[in-house]
Amino acid sequence: MPTKVEGLPTKAVQAAINDQIAKEFYASYLYLSMAAWFEEQNLPGFAKWMRHQHDEEREHAMRFFDYLIDAGARVRLQGLDEPPADFKGPLHVMEASLAHEKKVTASIRTIYELAVKDKDYATQLMLQWFIKEQQEEEKSVGDVIARMKLAGDSSAALLFLDNQLGQRGPAAE
Ligand code: FEO
Repeated sequence: MPTKVEGLPTKAVQAAINDQIAKEFYASYLYLSMAAWFEEQNLPGFAKWMRHQHDEEREHAMRFFDYLIDAGARVRLQGLDEPPADFKGPLHVMEASLAHEKKVTASIRTIYELAVKDKDYATQLMLQWFIKEQQEEEKSVGDVIARMKLAGDSSAALLFLDNQLGQRGPAAE
């Protein structure tokens, strides 16, 4: 057992963080399913971008996991739903991704409000990183969607964008 730090999160906050761990792993799983779909469509750049998202979501889950462990609180992993595997098109995937990020943002705000109500300052501080991260994630997906809308029905523009997205980060070869 790790040394317990002062200020164990309340039971309600612990439960909400355990739920959030499942949500982050589900997001990771969802983005991996989206990566597989893009691979099937021969869009390796979009697929790589989604693999990168998959990695980031796993890291988010582990941040919450480690927060509970370091606080001496209990981690309770939950089952994951099967993510969708079929999408109507590339724009639909990215819009589904943005919709999911908005849900995650709302969920993190709800935990923050709970931490404020419970005067849990350590959890508030930890969540500030996530609040900023969510802003960046929503912006990043929103930027891709905006470029896809500019590309319209042009296959050439879609392939150009695929090439650009493939240059993102060190994720998954
Ligand atoms: Fe972990 Fe993209 O929210």
